[in-house]
Amino acid sequence: MNMVFDEAAKARYSQAYLANFKPLTREENLIMLTQDEMKQATARAAIEYVPAGIIGVGTGSTANFFIDALADIKGRIDAAVASSVATAERLKKVGIRVIDLNEAGEMEVYVDGADEITRHMAMIKGGGGALTREKIVAACAKKFVCIIDQTKLVDVMGSFPLPVEVIPMARSYVARQLVKMGGNPVLRSGFTTDNGNVILDVHGMSILDPVAMETEINQIVGVVTVGLFARRGADVCLMGTQEGVQTFKR
Ligand code: 5RP
Repeated sequence: MNMVFDEAAKARYSQAYLANFKPLTREENLIMLTQDEMKQATARAAIEYVPAGIIGVGTGSTANFFIDALADIKGRIDAAVASSVATAERLKKVGIRVIDLNEAGEMEVYVDGADEITRHMAMIKGGGGALTREKIVAACAKKFVCIIDQTKLVDVMGSFPLPVEVIPMARSYVARQLVKMGGNPVLRSGFTTDNGNVILDVHGMSILDPVAMETEINQIVGVVTVGLFARRGADVCLMGTQEGVQTFKR
């Protein structure tokens, strides 16, 4: 149907339109970055920390953005050590040589994401289930560069369930010990780590002393690794925010 507006109808229409029109607030007017865009920005900023030689590479979506950025400067590095099978595959796909940690020895830098981090540089890691290999590769690096978006920075860790990698036969025993510590462990369903183990995600922990808790959980027989990285935290944290990438150091 052909709509024909006379002048009076047009005026009524525009008055009604203006009456309902709400200008955007200052916040709405700003172009907000998505979480992935903040992850990508921090991943790119980490390239500044990449030395010539061999580098350790973490696991997860932020680490994947880092691998993408690394691909652009791959001529600068000799090889990478991967913290998971998934990371090794992604590195190879972009043409970066992957070597065994035993072949690499000590490295200058390890770059990885985190699930939570405090201003003291203690972290929860293992959301992707690669915590044990991540901790091993990180231990072999002089500098841990943590790349996060701003949602990961917390005052007290524990809102994100704490991952614990466990030998399968010890699952129930370890779960009982974690309950005694005040946690609520939940078996990560349908998941097996690269090392053939299971993960208990421990809910309800308020981690006020991360170093003490890391030590205590690691002592439970059957625990392979707890996803608390406090005894050896990050050295540098690059945090993607709405205002750009912020750096803080130990
Ligand atoms: C994997 C990890 C990751 O670093 C952590 O889960 C953060 O992941 P993402 O970068 O996808 O937010 O510890 O085991």
